[in-house]
Amino acid sequence: MKKIQRVLTGITTSGTPHLGNYVGAIRPTVRASRLPEVQSFYFLADYHALIKVGEPARVQRSTLEIAATWLACGLDPQKVTFYRQSDIPEIPELTWLLTCVTGKGVLNRAHAYKASVDKNNAAGVDPDAGVTAGLFMYPVLMAADILMFNAHQVPVGRDQIQHIEMARDIASSFNHLYGEHFTLPEAAIEEHVATLPGLDGRKMSKSYDNTIPLFVPRDQLRKLIMGIVTDSRAPGEPKSTEGSALFQLFQAFASEEETASLAKAYAEGIAWGDAKQTLFERLDREIAPMREVYDQLIQDPAQIEKTLKAGAEKARAIATPFTTRLREAVGLRQLDNRVAAAPVKAAKVTAPAFKQYREGDGLFYFKLVDGTGTLLLQSTGFASGKEAAQAIARLQREGSQALPSLREQLTLQEDGEALTQALAHFAALQA
Ligand code: TRP
Repeated sequence: MKKIQRVLTGITTSGTPHLGNYVGAIRPTVRASRLPEVQSFYFLADYHALIKVGEPARVQRSTLEIAATWLACGLDPQKVTFYRQSDIPEIPELTWLLTCVTGKGVLNRAHAYKASVDKNNAAGVDPDAGVTAGLFMYPVLMAADILMFNAHQVPVGRDQIQHIEMARDIASSFNHLYGEHFTLPEAAIEEHVATLPGLDGRKMSKSYDNTIPLFVPRDQLRKLIMGIVTDSRAPGEPKSTEGSALFQLFQAFASEEETASLAKAYAEGIAWGDAKQTLFERLDREIAPMREVYDQLIQDPAQIEKTLKAGAEKARAIATPFTTRLREAVGLRQLDNRVAAAPVKAAKVTAPAFKQYREGDGLFYFKLVDGTGTLLLQSTGFASGKEAAQAIARLQREGSQALPSLREQLTLQEDGEALTQALAHFAALQA
């Protein structure tokens, strides 16, 4: 029997969906959501949008457009849980619980934050100039999105992989401290989904201002396609499919036979104008039926609002009781039923620790003990403190993976889960 996989992904509501989003995310995701063995959660990440967008009207408009797009592209809100992040008050609540087990140093190393700091440093201004705490906390909010529903798989672009790793680390820190509450999520990267080129041949992206919006009116779609950059080969001259943005766009929509036939036309010197017309017709064939649904939906925001509210209800049927359990786990408890005595000495030391010391033989040793004082690892003697420290650093960085190569330097190694967990704790703090 195959186990049900929970798949979850969020879409930041800060723009208008374009062809690149459609081919790279929406189309494969909608297809995957129809598989019987998955339970999917898709949500509009509007709290995340506030980090980048300071224009209320744009956040609202984008939320409407993205919701309408996903529905028009065939997402079935009966089959999946489709909701808006800000309709789930448990998400910011969980964000705080996770914030308290997240190392600040981990967040310092987040790509998006680091990029801003690097830019400021290069410009010779204060490292944190213009950096909001929202940007800094972005990975924790994202971890809350994922962990709230105990997702196994998180389909994301490559730029988001680090965030999923952080979510794993945050989850293991929390689990370590409060018990096994969270599933450790994994990034699901679609290897063979094409990155679409934009109008100018660079990757289609809002930041390059080279996008083709998915649901522009037909005549505008044609106009945009006519503006795709090509080389200056004249009609009749053979053209190269290699590096041709037009060709890559076609390929992302066409069957193999259709693609082969356009490649042949390239070799035979098709005029760029005709190639563009071919692309336009092929694109419009796939998009037109969805565009019709989209236009209807956009004109009926109340209907979309209802769909999202129903989705939020489904999501909260999970989030509300789970949050109750988590509050209980961390000690945010009612006082009117039993109040546990604060443990006297146990649980005071909750984190595992490496202890480094020197013996009478002049050698340097270390050991790893867990929160209850149980010995998990014991090293042999090192000639210098530096060597011992390096071995510790490796264990902290690489976790259990470092164990096989350090075997010679260990006289005791507690087997199993306790050691793995303790090492994962350090990895989570450093990441
Ligand atoms: N940060 C993601 C992006 O920009 C959007 C997002 C927010 C997300 N929360 C998420 C994606 C949770 C996956 C899971 O693409």
